[in-house]
Amino acid sequence: MRRGRQRRGVLPAALVAAALLAALPASRAGAFPVGGRDTVLPAGSELDEDALDRPREVFRAEAMGGAKSYLVRLGDMAFSAPSLLGGMARRAGIACNACHVNGAGNPRLYIPGLSTRPGTFDTTGGVFNPPADNGVLDALTPPSLRGARLLAPYGHDGRFASLRDFVRNVIVDEFAGPEPSPAILDGLVAYIQDIDFLPNPRLAPGGALAAGASASERRGEKLFRKPFPRRPELSCAACHLPSAAFVDHRQHDVGSGGEFKTPTLLNADVNAPYFHDGRYDSYAQVVAHFDRVFALGLAPRERQDLVAYLTAIGDGVRPYERDGVEPRLKEIGEFASLLATAIPAGDREVVALTVATVGGELRELTEAFPDRKDATVVDGRTERATARAALKERVLDLRRIDAAVAAGHLDEAAADYAAWRKLMASTVPEALRAAERWSLFNPDLHDAHYGALRLLSQQADKAAR
Ligand code: HEC
Ligand code: HEC
Repeated sequence: MRRGRQRRGVLPAALVAAALLAALPASRAGAFPVGGRDTVLPAGSELDEDALDRPREVFRAEAMGGAKSYLVRLGDMAFSAPSLLGGMARRAGIACNACHVNGAGNPRLYIPGLSTRPGTFDTTGGVFNPPADNGVLDALTPPSLRGARLLAPYGHDGRFASLRDFVRNVIVDEFAGPEPSPAILDGLVAYIQDIDFLPNPRLAPGGALAAGASASERRGEKLFRKPFPRRPELSCAACHLPSAAFVDHRQHDVGSGGEFKTPTLLNADVNAPYFHDGRYDSYAQVVAHFDRVFALGLAPRERQDLVAYLTAIGDGVRPYERDGVEPRLKEIGEFASLLATAIPAGDREVVALTVATVGGELRELTEAFPDRKDATVVDGRTERATARAALKERVLDLRRIDAAVAAGHLDEAAADYAAWRKLMASTVPEALRAAERWSLFNPDLHDAHYGALRLLSQQADKAAR
């Protein structure tokens, strides 16, 4: 299947890179952003934004058959809003979602000077909020927020009992953002509390292994609950309580350089790198750590059994889903639906944040349909141009709506929003679907495009040296 449709219209990366380079003004070539945006971040930064597989997000409200509340949708939108954070993050287009992608983590996140290894970030470095710089490179992993409502206290060191206080601290102290309004803060908390764990059929209620577990997993479960030989008051399960999402809400010194809260082991298969500083890539390394620090004297087979057990309890159904026109339009539609409430209420703050965020998402979606200057794609020129134009017009519509609300013309804004929704349900999806096979959502074009860009930035780096 893949063979047949793939390489049509795709040029070799080196050729494309040469063509792209020739098209660029010399002054810009050195700073050509691989991420596709004018970056204010240090060269070599990686946000993994172009990943085609995105973490799947499961909401409690939806899992129970309901719809997301206004508050949860408000928080979801704010979570993707760079303008919520301070100047530096805003200019770099970084929102909460950049590090906690769809509420999960970001194992590839790397910002030179702020990361010690991929998947870590120093929240007390000077780049985003100079006064908060503690002068030490102490990078931490952005934890997955799945099930966060069950995982207090917050921060790896558990310094905040309240999720609301933690989130306010992220915005104001870590990212030098303006004081968020109580409504937006409530929304962010409601959203985070609604992010659920991915279901794991290998676990029974209460956290025991379900029927069908392998012999090795069962032996691992026994070991997990067995008292440590030299510290009989301890066992893995004494801190990672199976019946309580595998946490005990407490901080411990497990020989990793300080006191840290017990992290959950649910869905942890996709949470590597492990420990607060992301020092371990695998369960095998984590098990070896505990074996060493607590003198457990585990035999090789016992280590393997523990790893098999961790892998079983850390599983989750379909952890990733494919990015594309449909999921993007769904998210944009959901964010924009806030306007149906915020416009009649004359809520300027929410209208402005929604318009800025949805506008940003629409512009980003435009970039998935390469324009005529991009030599990576040859075919579908008309379809791509039509898709780009449809999206750009919808950004302009939104600006008009924002201006109308700011001027107090709520009826006009409501009518414009109704018309916008209609177009977003008909003309826009039609244009986008017609062009999708020539978009960067096509895996072959995606790889050719980003391959060319990488080559290009390497060449530019070399030329600059
Ligand atoms: C540049 C990356 C980055 C951005 C942007 C970011 N975070 Fe985080 N987040 C982290 C890191 C790193 C930690 C661990 C920090 C710590 O332990 O003190 C963290 C921790 C958290 C936690 C604690 C989770 C737990 O179980 O302890 C929450 C909640 C959270 N972030 C929410 C947010 C929200 C809300 C935003 C946006 C307002 C945001 N984050 C933006 C990197 C980021
Ligand atoms: C005294 C309490 C305690 C005991 C006992 C304990 N853990 Fe932990 N565990 C922790 C803490 C605290 C961390 C986080 C350490 C850090 O962030 O530096 C952790 C981290 C982990 C992680 C990494 C999770 C992640 O997302 O980073 C795994 C896996 C794990 N433990 C499994 C085990 C296993 C298996 C055992 C038994 C051999 C065990 N733990 C025993 C408290 C404990």
